[in-house]
Amino acid sequence: MSHPTPLLRTAEPSGAGPAAPAAAFAPHDGAVPVHVAIIMDGNGRWAAARGLPRIAGHRAGAEAVRRTIRACLDTGVAWLTVYAFSSENWRRPATEISDLTGLLRHYLRQEVAELSRVGVRMRFIGDRARFGAAMGSQIALAEERTAANTRLNLNIALSYGARDEIVAAARKLAQAAMEGRISPEAIDEAAFAAQLTAAGQPDPDLIIRTSGEQRLSNFLLWQSAYAELVFLDVLWPDFDAAHFCQALGAFAGRERRFGARPDAGAGRG
Ligand code: FPP
Repeated sequence: MSHPTPLLRTAEPSGAGPAAPAAAFAPHDGAVPVHVAIIMDGNGRWAAARGLPRIAGHRAGAEAVRRTIRACLDTGVAWLTVYAFSSENWRRPATEISDLTGLLRHYLRQEVAELSRVGVRMRFIGDRARFGAAMGSQIALAEERTAANTRLNLNIALSYGARDEIVAAARKLAQAAMEGRISPEAIDEAAFAAQLTAAGQPDPDLIIRTSGEQRLSNFLLWQSAYAELVFLDVLWPDFDAAHFCQALGAFAGRERRFGARPDAGAGRG
C-alpha cells in the first residue's frame, strides 16, 4: 500500500515540514455535529476513470477514511460511522468481495495500534459472522484493544443492512412478548431502539454521501430519522478535510427543528 497519511498532524515526523491546515471549518463557525455518518461511494468510478482495477479505488478509499478520522479529531466530531460493506455488497463478484475483505483485514491489522494511540474507540455494526472466524477474531480484538478510548468513537458498518437490523430488533421484541418478558404496550421507541446494534449511541446528526448519488441505500434507516443529509459531488477516494468541512458548514447552516415550529423551541413535533 502507499504511505498512509498520519492520523494526527502532531504525529508527523519533525522533518516532514508543517502540514497544511486540515480544516477550513472551525468549531466557532457553527454547530459541530456530535455524530457524522458517511456513505462512502464512488470507489469503482474513481478507479475506472484511471483505468485501474476496482480494488485500487477501495485502497484509495481506505486512505480517505484515514483523512476523515483525522478531520473528526481536528474538528471535535465525537462519533463517526462509515458504511464499509453493505449486506447487498455480497452480491458483487467473488473477486471484488475477496479483494475488499482482504483490504479490510489489512486495515484491521495495520491500523488498530495507531487508532488506539490517538484515542479512537472502534466498534463494528452488521453481521460480522458472515466474514468468518479469523476476521471475526480480528474485529473482536480491535474492539477490545480500543475499548477504553474516548476521543473519537468509530463505527465501521460491515455486512450491514438497516432493514435486517430493524427486522432483528422486531424479532427480539416479539420473542420477548411471546415469553411474557415484555408487554406489547411497553414497546415504544426507546424499547425498540434498545434492540438495535448501536443501542445507546447518539443518532447521526449528519449523513454525508459522496459521488453525487442521493439515497440512503439501507443505511441507518431508524437512526437517520432527524439527520441532516448532505450529498457531495466528489468520489470517495478524493474526499478530504475540505470536503468534510464543507459538509460541516452545510450542517451548521441548517435549521434543525425535529418536527417543531421554529418559534416553538426544541422538541419533536
Ligand atoms: C462504494 O464504492 C464503496 C464500497 C462498497 C466500499 C467502501 C470501502 C472502503 C472505502 C474501503 C476501506 C474501508 C475501511 C473502513 C478501511 P463503489 O465500489 O460502489 O463505487 P462505484 O459506485 O463507483 O462503483
